[in-house]
Amino acid sequence: MTEATFLRDTREGYDKIAGDYAERFPTMLVDGPLGTAMLTAFAELIKGAGGGPVVEVGSGAGRVTGFLHSLGVRLSGIDLSPAMLALARRNHPELRFDEGSMTALDLPDGSLTGLLAWYSVIHVPPESHPEVFAEFHRVLAPGGHLLVAFQVGDAPLRFTEAFGHTVSLDFHRLSPDRVTEGLEKAGFRMDARLVREPSGDEKVPQAYLLAHRPADG
Ligand SMILES: C[S@@+](CC[C@H](N)C(=O)[O-])C[C@H]1O[C@@H](n2cnc3c(N)ncnc32)[C@H](O)[C@@H]1O
Repeated sequence: MTEATFLRDTREGYDKIAGDYAERFPTMLVDGPLGTAMLTAFAELIKGAGGGPVVEVGSGAGRVTGFLHSLGVRLSGIDLSPAMLALARRNHPELRFDEGSMTALDLPDGSLTGLLAWYSVIHVPPESHPEVFAEFHRVLAPGGHLLVAFQVGDAPLRFTEAFGHTVSLDFHRLSPDRVTEGLEKAGFRMDARLVREPSGDEKVPQAYLLAHRPADG
């Protein structure tokens, strides 16, 4: 099957910028007190459900994977970009990172207690969100938890240059209402939603949505 252009462009883009990206977003830096609070709440839910297994899809250089691991969550990462995976493996040799795409996860049905998509669905065009959210629902066990983070907005941001490299990288800013609707259509039940104002050099609000796969669905 031919690979979708957005997957190829995203992989190539991250492969080019991996080194600079990791320098800009250091290993244990997590996204301010409110982002950290949502990750910590997610970790508490997971620990209450036995501690794992959890997968971070779009784990990048592993900074958030490492943070959740430090909180006692049993997890691994999946990423599209071999260069990002190499950084993650170097930064966290104690954790497992596999190559793959959230559009077709190589995981059995109902096999996860939790799934984290931290600023990674932003690289999937909204028209492909239904298939991605269906994958998230498929791989989570009934009762399993989902945490999704993204920048809020309605116009995609397209980068043709990043850190001095020519790339074709789309960052889809998303509507919390539309993502909520998509998750509910895929069968999720919403638990919490936090939208915070931009801070530092951020240009737009940031959203964190927490949901679960119902025990009966
Ligand atoms: C903005 S980075 C976030 C990385 C990490 N979650 C963090 O916060 O540090 C987005 C990551 O998602 C990965 N990614 C994008 N689309 C993906 C897909 N379809 N499947 C798996 N990973 C993907 C990229 O390669 C990149 O490493």
